Amino acid sequence: MYMQLGFIGTGYVGLVTGVMCAHIGHQVVCLDKDGRKIEKLKMGDCIIYENNLAEYMNQQITKGNIVFSSDYQDLQACDVVFICVGTPSDENGGADLGFVKEALLQCAQHLPDSCLFVIKSTVPPTSCQNFQKFLQDKGFSHKIASNPEFLREGSAVDDFLNGARIVAGGDLHSINIIRNIYNPLIDRGVEFLGVDTTTSEMIKYSSNSFLAIKLSFINEMCDLCEELGADISLLAKGLGLDKRIGSLFLNPGPGYGGSCFPKDTKALSHIAKIHNIASHVLDAAIDSNLARYKLMRNKIRNIIKTPCIITALGVAFKAGTDDIRESPALKILQLLADDGYFIQIYDPVAGKDPANLGISRVKICDNIENASKDSNGLIILTEWQEFSGIEYEEIGKFMSQKRLIDLRLIADHSRAKNAGFDVYRVGAKEKL
Ligand code: UDX
Repeated sequence: MYMQLGFIGTGYVGLVTGVMCAHIGHQVVCLDKDGRKIEKLKMGDCIIYENNLAEYMNQQITKGNIVFSSDYQDLQACDVVFICVGTPSDENGGADLGFVKEALLQCAQHLPDSCLFVIKSTVPPTSCQNFQKFLQDKGFSHKIASNPEFLREGSAVDDFLNGARIVAGGDLHSINIIRNIYNPLIDRGVEFLGVDTTTSEMIKYSSNSFLAIKLSFINEMCDLCEELGADISLLAKGLGLDKRIGSLFLNPGPGYGGSCFPKDTKALSHIAKIHNIASHVLDAAIDSNLARYKLMRNKIRNIIKTPCIITALGVAFKAGTDDIRESPALKILQLLADDGYFIQIYDPVAGKDPANLGISRVKICDNIENASKDSNGLIILTEWQEFSGIEYEEIGKFMSQKRLIDLRLIADHSRAKNAGFDVYRVGAKEKL
């Protein structure tokens, strides 16, 4: 049966989950303290770039199933409020929970204690227990539960509808309330797992950490293939045929980025340290990823030896999003800019405002041709599908030196070679 749901925070998690909960039948209030965001959302302007989200959002606005506000009073009728605010890394690598506590306090002060508060923000294990005490110490008896998100940027709507699992942490009553919210998805076969809050928080952190470890592993295997003359693509295929390993998340690249993996791996490592528990495997994956940015810079400098004009294809941390947070592309480009290279950037969606990139010596271009003008090399940094079909015969005419460096293994290498390009890639030592 439908419920009245509130969502605090209209970012990648709160807005997607709020809109999609309206889509599956609930009445939703999305709240953000940034009034400008709320005004845009009220006008139907979907403030984040997510496949299909705008359509779903405007459908639900038209149906009157979702409203936007900056006023906590507007949450009065909610049975459940999801906290979906940011938990940025603090100076020690731990998670800063200030925004979560602020939201919880506002909710407690405005809402009856029958309203269940559900933490969807990624918070370190035992946080829900601490939040419960935080509210009790201030005289509030609201219950707190956990419902971590497993939404990949760029496919968040699909991940909501067809996710691998829904995890709910809390007491039996809270778990049943959360189960009821997601019943339409569970009825369609999405797995539901009810656990305690700490286990729920650990499932989230360990999921992201395991995926990050898998990526650092395949990236190091890529470097070994490069040195030994083996084929990383065939290696990944051979690995993935073992169902215990699985074929997904085995694409080598310039390292992982985004607002989750770097932050969550650091936070989990920090938690292990403060509890004196070894996290050798996790720490090695973090170090490997950090070292990769310099490794990629060195690879590029070994090919294009003197600082000159180069072309960066992609700045988003991955294809399918406009998000540049912790983007490996930007980390690598910053190093090259510091080395004196002048970088002409093209990304289909991200990085349109040079001020946001935090890099000197760049020029933002609106297509590949303009980004290639007088360039000494094309460097593919983000796995946008568009970069699989580059017309090298044309692009080459604009360039000073016809070189292609494919850090994502998505380019048509033979077409580039036929167009007279020198082709380099991760996983192969020499020019192809
Ligand atoms: C991740 C988790 O996948 C998601 O479940 C969680 O809820 C949020 O964090 P996201 O950060 O959006 O999602 O991106 P993801 O698709 O996981 O990719 C993370 C990084 O790994 C990106 O930089 C991507 O380019 C890189 N990656 C991914 C690879 O380099 N190779 C791969 O095969 C897959």
